[in-house]
Amino acid sequence: MCGIVGYIGQRDCTDVLMDGLEKLEYRGYDSAGIAVFEKTGIKTVKTKGKLKDMRQKLETEGSPVGHCGIGHTRWATHGEPSDQNSHPHSNGRVTIVHNGIIENYIELKEFLTEKGYVFHSQTDSEVVACLLDYYYSERNPLRAIMETVKELQGSYALGIMFKDFPDRVYATRKESPLIVGIGENEYFIASDIPAFLKYTKKYALLEDDDIVCMTNDDIEFYDVHGLPEQKEISVAEWDVEQAQKCGYPHFMLKEIHEQPEIVQKTLESCCKNGEPSFEDIGLTDDMLRDVKRVFVVACGTAMHAGIIARYAIEQLARVPVTVEVASEFRYMDPIVGEGDLVIVVSQSGETADTKAGLELAKQKGAKTLAVVNVKYSAIARQADMFIHTLAGPEIAVASTKAYTAQISVLYLLAFRFAFARGTIDRERMNQLTAQLLTAPKAIQDVIDHKQDCQYIASKLINTDTLFFIGRSFDYALSLEGSLKLKEISYIHSEAYAAGELKHGTISLIEPGIPVITVATQSAVLAKTISNMEEVKARGGVIIAVCRKGTVFAADSVDMKLEIDTDLDDILVPLPTVCALQLIAYYTSVLRGIDPDKPRNLAKSVTTE
Ligand code: M6R
Repeated sequence: MCGIVGYIGQRDCTDVLMDGLEKLEYRGYDSAGIAVFEKTGIKTVKTKGKLKDMRQKLETEGSPVGHCGIGHTRWATHGEPSDQNSHPHSNGRVTIVHNGIIENYIELKEFLTEKGYVFHSQTDSEVVACLLDYYYSERNPLRAIMETVKELQGSYALGIMFKDFPDRVYATRKESPLIVGIGENEYFIASDIPAFLKYTKKYALLEDDDIVCMTNDDIEFYDVHGLPEQKEISVAEWDVEQAQKCGYPHFMLKEIHEQPEIVQKTLESCCKNGEPSFEDIGLTDDMLRDVKRVFVVACGTAMHAGIIARYAIEQLARVPVTVEVASEFRYMDPIVGEGDLVIVVSQSGETADTKAGLELAKQKGAKTLAVVNVKYSAIARQADMFIHTLAGPEIAVASTKAYTAQISVLYLLAFRFAFARGTIDRERMNQLTAQLLTAPKAIQDVIDHKQDCQYIASKLINTDTLFFIGRSFDYALSLEGSLKLKEISYIHSEAYAAGELKHGTISLIEPGIPVITVATQSAVLAKTISNMEEVKARGGVIIAVCRKGTVFAADSVDMKLEIDTDLDDILVPLPTVCALQLIAYYTSVLRGIDPDKPRNLAKSVTTE
């Protein structure tokens, strides 16, 4: 949601800002803009629409020429997408870009209106520009920022320029991501590292209400009291290729293809001598033995990874696991506390609800463990323990490789849990681990047969609605397959526990409605087949996603997608989900949709 970039150095600022905004496009947006210090003052160009609209506007209005500026992609919250509501916003002597939500903006707007400020947009963000101007006196930007943030309630990442200081970009943040890039005599701010990765891999992190001031040849950090601070400089492990399509038509397809390697890398990083090991992050067998209950708190696809974890941990370690949607967990006054382990799962590590869930769990005395893909994210930093999924930058809005990396880690955790609690012995733990390490091969096999998924997609493109059903792990996969398909193909889809269909939803089954039946789990296969037959009897079109060699009664299945693997049932979700991702991807493409940037969606959901 919303992308921020800022630059000061010797390069053409418009180029750097536009290039950075392009790298942040994945976050989702509906308008864009930049403001650059020119010799005669700040020039702002902004527009509703996409970056191609912005480029067109730059051509007609003339690109700002300068070496210092800020840019923004906006995902509308307060006020419709329009030129006026686009950022940057200028008022008085201040120009800003903002990511986040100012919760008390109405009170602040009233106060500022009384002081004579006139507003030009419907956004909550413009009040920040006005408030900064209100507190700006004696040519002291730092003081203005410190006074302003004291008044702000909500979340913000801000890039700020003061008219009187053409050679400076200021920035601050609270609960919204903002990273500082450090090059050779050039500095950047950005919502995410890929925006400046091309120029530098060095970065520094800002804590809540830290302020950074970047000039041509220097960078200074200040804490919330305005005292100078030293910041640790880190080096990003990601490289430029990881943030590029590298010949693939879409990031999503590239990311699906990366899964065998990523799963391998992630698994290896959590194993020592062939067994799962979490001692390095402080998660010992003694701790696992003492855990009374496990909660998995997450959103969307990450929450679906939690459901896989639930089946695996409960089956193997016999510990009760509850999976909660983070936006519910945070407000349900959950019965959670000492003795509980709360696992928060997130690709971005910035999802507002998941972060709030983590904070609540900590307050209530539970131990917290984050499974996160972005190591410098807020969630990764705030949790008691942190496991880094090594998926690299995930750019496509639809999460694929982050999910497979998450479930890989969660499987290992389940194995170690079970061993620590004595429900499996070391031999079984190591046998399961060895098997899991062969999962990349099984995923690769699905990718090598992607034309089978493409064929199934070609049969779905004209449908208005479809269903996914499955039991146990297959139910967890159905939820994920359905979410993937609907978010990028815009086909209405619902996932049901196969046995639940006849409790209401079966009334929606009409002749011709596709029902994707995930049927990989031998313990419940016969039951799933019965549910499938119930659908078939009502004219549903059955697409079975099953292990190779699964036998169905004649004519009970219309199409079959076979997963060729020897993996234990518990591990089959890894290759199977890849098939569901490919079905969703091809359905989207065949319907003429850009799967990387589905409408209305943002990659990183930093508001509630
Ligand atoms: O960054 P997170 O993993 O916390 O994001 C959670 C969800 O917003 C995310 O998984 C979303 O559901 C994806 N669009 C699914 O493809």
